[in-house]
Amino acid sequence: MKEWIEKITNANSLEELESLRVEILGKKGVLTAEFAKLKTIPNEEKKAFAQNLNEQKIAITEAIDNKKVVLEEDALNKKLEAEKIDVTRFNNEVSSAAVHPVIDTMDRIITYFQNLNFAVEEGPLVEDDFHNFEALNLPKYHPARDMQDTFYNKDFTVLRTHTSPVQIRTMLNQKPPIRMIAPGTVFRRDFDLTHTPMFHQVEGLVVDSEDKVSFANLKHVLVEFLQHMFGDVEVRFRPSFFPFTEPSAEVDISCVFCKGEGCRVCSHTGWLEVLGCGVVDPNVFKAVGYENVSGYAFGLGVERFAMLIHNIGDLRSLFESDLKLLGQFK
Ligand code: PHE
Repeated sequence: MKEWIEKITNANSLEELESLRVEILGKKGVLTAEFAKLKTIPNEEKKAFAQNLNEQKIAITEAIDNKKVVLEEDALNKKLEAEKIDVTRFNNEVSSAAVHPVIDTMDRIITYFQNLNFAVEEGPLVEDDFHNFEALNLPKYHPARDMQDTFYNKDFTVLRTHTSPVQIRTMLNQKPPIRMIAPGTVFRRDFDLTHTPMFHQVEGLVVDSEDKVSFANLKHVLVEFLQHMFGDVEVRFRPSFFPFTEPSAEVDISCVFCKGEGCRVCSHTGWLEVLGCGVVDPNVFKAVGYENVSGYAFGLGVERFAMLIHNIGDLRSLFESDLKLLGQFK
């Protein structure tokens, strides 16, 4: 009996305990076999024999029950241990989100100009003819409207083709001086390696009294800005035309890939066109009722900046939600 109690106390698992129980108390168990002997025992010894067996049975059952509780608790603890999730454990495999390269570039541009005290203005994506064209010195039937590949709506509104209408809205709502940028989405009927029907621009406008704003100011601000964005690049201003600026210029930087040597990206010219700008045309001020002021404005394509900063070949790939591409910009 001592042996059995010892075996029971040393059992390592519930299975082992159960087979011990069967071995001792089961139908063919050793103790059950002892009880069977009762029949053959003389009557005067029966009582003492039976009492002794009963005591053994009680002691063994008690030992089994106690051990069972301990083993069950062990098993539960082991199970909990195995299922426990350690929320503090660092897992390299977890993938985190990343800011889209276009938004990241836009944010950098916005922050740069906010630091120069430019206010951030917004306007609607669906514009009327007046703000998108007329007030910007683009009268109806003017051939320069062809530059814009416009999405027209039936009610004569348009999906804005540039962020320049925000210039008009801001000037109509505020008095000079004005110092603003307008970041936002624009739309044109265009689709190839370097054009998508939806893209992003950042517009800039500075208006103040005539003695305070000149082309030289514009040039200085843009050279500093472009060198902030692209590093140590050369910047050149090429005469150009926009209906809302006079004089107008397109601005090139020396190619960021070949350092001006000439490569496929810059079409072997050594230069990359990055924005349009100019001194605000007097007709624009007339449209918004401004007098005795001077101003400069510029507009740039954010995707173009992002492509040059991150060396992206196909603009369309930015809008395909391809995680392999986007994951590189973490
Ligand atoms: N709005 C012009 C465009 O979308 C860019 C521009 C803005 C040019 C301001 C000059 C001044 O092409």
